[in-house]
Amino acid sequence: MLRVVVCVSGGGTNLQAIIDRCADGTIRNAQIVRVISNKKDAFALERAKKAGIPGICISPKDYSSREEFNLAFQKGLDEAEPDLIVLAGFLVQVPRNVVAAYPGKIINIHPALIPSFCGKGFYGLRVHEAALARGVKVTGATVHFVDENMDSGPIIIQKAVDIPEGITAQDLQQKVMREAEWIILPKAIDLIAQGRVVLDEKTKTTHILPE
Ligand code: GAR
Repeated sequence: MLRVVVCVSGGGTNLQAIIDRCADGTIRNAQIVRVISNKKDAFALERAKKAGIPGICISPKDYSSREEFNLAFQKGLDEAEPDLIVLAGFLVQVPRNVVAAYPGKIINIHPALIPSFCGKGFYGLRVHEAALARGVKVTGATVHFVDENMDSGPIIIQKAVDIPEGITAQDLQQKVMREAEWIILPKAIDLIAQGRVVLDEKTKTTHILPE
């Protein structure tokens, strides 16, 4: 059983998708053992509680330095002994000590087709506002491994979403979640749990083994 820790910051609809897909058997051989939020009032913590999953808050605000927070965050992960750490709308850059402690074991969902609309400043609604401002006709979502830089790790799965004429950023965010994020994030966890994702350290790419 793959022990999964999910890190969140907000509403937690991606966390909910993972919970639901574990419950209905779409994600096989995986169990969410802990949810970590950097925000005390994140609705994602309510979702965890409702599903009977232990949830904790580790906020930079509760530590006198970033270094102290970084160590506390790693401790919060270490205690849960995770095989996989899933960033599901976690809007804190993962500290270097954590990336170093869990090589190839951290994945993130980003609401665009990387390398478009990603990196510093591109998170949440801003990503969709930027896509609309650029006038792209297709966007989507990406699940990728996390490395020491932002949104730059090896890509695992992507899914494209058409952008209809005149859609608002809010509606586009919902459409990308519904048509891409809530599907590919559980899918990536299942693939990893089945041992089907091969990470090529040299080329920084992944290969998906057939079932
Ligand atoms: C999701 O759209 C996720 O892709 C995005 O935040 C949202 C969280 O929603 N993440 C990023 O922008 C990371 N760069 P949720 O809390 O309802 O899952």
